[in-house]
Amino acid sequence: MADSRSHASDFGRTTQSRPDQRAKPFLRWAGSKRKQLPRLIQFWTNSHQRYVEPFAGSACLFFEIAPNQGILGDKNASLIELYRVVRDHPVRLYERLCRIKRDESTYYRWRSKQQDELDPETRALRFLYLNRNCFNGIYRTNTSGDFNVPMGTKPGAYFSKADLLLCSSLLKRTKLIAGDFERTLQHVQSGDFVYLDPPYAVRSRRVFREYGATLFDTPDIERMATSLTRIVQTGADFLVSYADCKESREIARKWNAVRLPIRRHVAGFTGSRRHAYEWLISNKPIAEEFRRGTKRE
Ligand SMILES: C[S@@+](CC[C@H](N)C(=O)[O-])C[C@H]1O[C@@H](n2cnc3c(N)ncnc32)[C@H](O)[C@@H]1O
Repeated sequence: MADSRSHASDFGRTTQSRPDQRAKPFLRWAGSKRKQLPRLIQFWTNSHQRYVEPFAGSACLFFEIAPNQGILGDKNASLIELYRVVRDHPVRLYERLCRIKRDESTYYRWRSKQQDELDPETRALRFLYLNRNCFNGIYRTNTSGDFNVPMGTKPGAYFSKADLLLCSSLLKRTKLIAGDFERTLQHVQSGDFVYLDPPYAVRSRRVFREYGATLFDTPDIERMATSLTRIVQTGADFLVSYADCKESREIARKWNAVRLPIRRHVAGFTGSRRHAYEWLISNKPIAEEFRRGTKRE
């Protein structure tokens, strides 16, 4: 990946923490925007007071920016619980994670543990262990809410303890909200930068359910579209990432927008990648350099 920091500095942005304080996200997340950070980071400016992400997932843009103040929200309450445990007990969590074997029988034993029988720290440990060792970082549950993703074939090295400590210190200056995006957006105030990266709506289109119970549907896109006007009326800026579809084209028409090519996994399987397009939609004008830069890809 290109270094998004040098890219971003062309546009006058600086991260709010020192370079040695930048934290790498500790989660693998289907739909993560990690590959698109060089583009996304250009929308954050030094004049923004606070970073708000109501569909946080692995929050890779948040960790890249390392804002002085932030709000992360997600409907997945187990994910937000994990962020709380990373904030409060990073060393203990890391040491416990490293002690768990990464083989099939251990994976399926942890997967079968009942969440409500575990204390919050062990629940967070289970979430993190399964996330780091499951197939493609997918979060999917059955109808009873039990995580049901199989073990991955190439689970890759863990982050370091130092990485997790950096994430923890960033999370200490961040408000964490488990709930629908509108709950998080109630906290938006003037000077905020709000990044919205919702899941692709699934009920109306038969696509793979990456987010289990945290389903997003066409009426949710309409709710989100309405909330954009409220964000701007509050005096905040927004950036939306959304797959190219009828609904996103409608939102794009009302604001400043650019359509970009991206590589997408079909149904989360690496073997079935295809080229697709995604919209970036903002209340702020999108610089000509940015549009030209994206045409080269
Ligand atoms: C595409 S992912 C976000 C990825 C994130 N930008 C990253 O880089 O990892 C979308 C997230 O929205 C969450 N979500 C789904 N429906 C939601 C809702 N109604 N309100 C808040 N979060 C929701 C899912 O749990 C998922 O974590």
